[in-house]
Amino acid sequence: MTGRAVVDVCVVGGGIVGLALGRELALRGRSVLVLESRRVGERSAANVAAGMLAPASEVDLSDSRLTEFALAAHAMYPEWCAALARESGLDAGFDPTGTLIVALHHDHLALLERLNEFQRERGLTAERLSAASARELEPCLAPGVIGALRTDDTQVDPRRAMRALVAAIAAAGGVLEDGAEVSALVRDGDTYALTVRHRESEATVHASQVVLAGGAWSARVALPAGLPSLPMRPVKGQVVRVRGERLIGHVVRTPDVYLVPRADGELVIGATMEEMGFDARSTAGMVEHLLREAQRVLPGIAELELTECGVGFRPALRDHLPAIGSLDGAGLFVATGHFRNGVELAPITAQLLADVMCEGRTDPLIAPFTPARFATVASA
Ligand code: GLY
Repeated sequence: MTGRAVVDVCVVGGGIVGLALGRELALRGRSVLVLESRRVGERSAANVAAGMLAPASEVDLSDSRLTEFALAAHAMYPEWCAALARESGLDAGFDPTGTLIVALHHDHLALLERLNEFQRERGLTAERLSAASARELEPCLAPGVIGALRTDDTQVDPRRAMRALVAAIAAAGGVLEDGAEVSALVRDGDTYALTVRHRESEATVHASQVVLAGGAWSARVALPAGLPSLPMRPVKGQVVRVRGERLIGHVVRTPDVYLVPRADGELVIGATMEEMGFDARSTAGMVEHLLREAQRVLPGIAELELTECGVGFRPALRDHLPAIGSLDGAGLFVATGHFRNGVELAPITAQLLADVMCEGRTDPLIAPFTPARFATVASA
């Protein structure tokens, strides 16, 4: 793109939420431009994420409105992946095998008991398993496992999902530009004017609607005067990838670590939660911690090849809930703040925000996540 472009919608951010939204809007016949400041995936949290779709395993961390949203997201995932495969010709690696949350000692058992209580309160099902039953399902689990919960939490491969989304956007007539940094955003009559810097040029994009979907970087775009800035911070997560013989079929978690197996022999081990700003270093201490905790539950990983140490930045708003909706009561929207749930919530965020943008219809599921909640706080 050079000079001046006019589109219906400009999505600022080419992570999994921005891509899912770009696809959804293009499928609904909008002219869509998705702008990503780096290469797609280069700094996206989803590119590092393990891809657990885990409303039941992570329920004790979440607001009940987020649980409802996550359950609806979970229900639509298989069909969403199937549609994505039809459009793109690419498989997103959805795997419905399920999740085992295992205990290695009595403190873990107490945590599992508490988690199971939360799950029952929220109407989620989880099956209690003895150590023997857990090992029947996953024979490579450590002898030290003393009990487990089995949930229907599934997984997807976020890297494959993003590749499929890129292809699906193109197939639907949308345009994705990488290396395109938005340096200014102003209201210009009925449209928004975005100044977009490329490596060697600058261009202006006029869009009737704009969506800020830049993950942990979403609050960096300077907004038109009078709008609240989002209280966004990055929460660093370190993740390790190993590869070799496939040791487990289920996602396996303890309260200290999770292990997510892929069909191709990759095993993703995560993740730390660190308040370190945008510190992108993999650190020896945290990598050692993840590998140690992972080996305690699955000793066989010692023989696997260490292939990658990665760092992602979860986009966290002050209340740890997403912000989905209009920022200015008109055509400027946000879809960000998905914190630990971006991969899971991307498809439903795209679908329900597209309903708002194309039909003016706000589903009750996203009503609690209005960005207006920060405007109220700012003016109070
Ligand atoms: N949802 C997994 C994580 O944020 O580490």
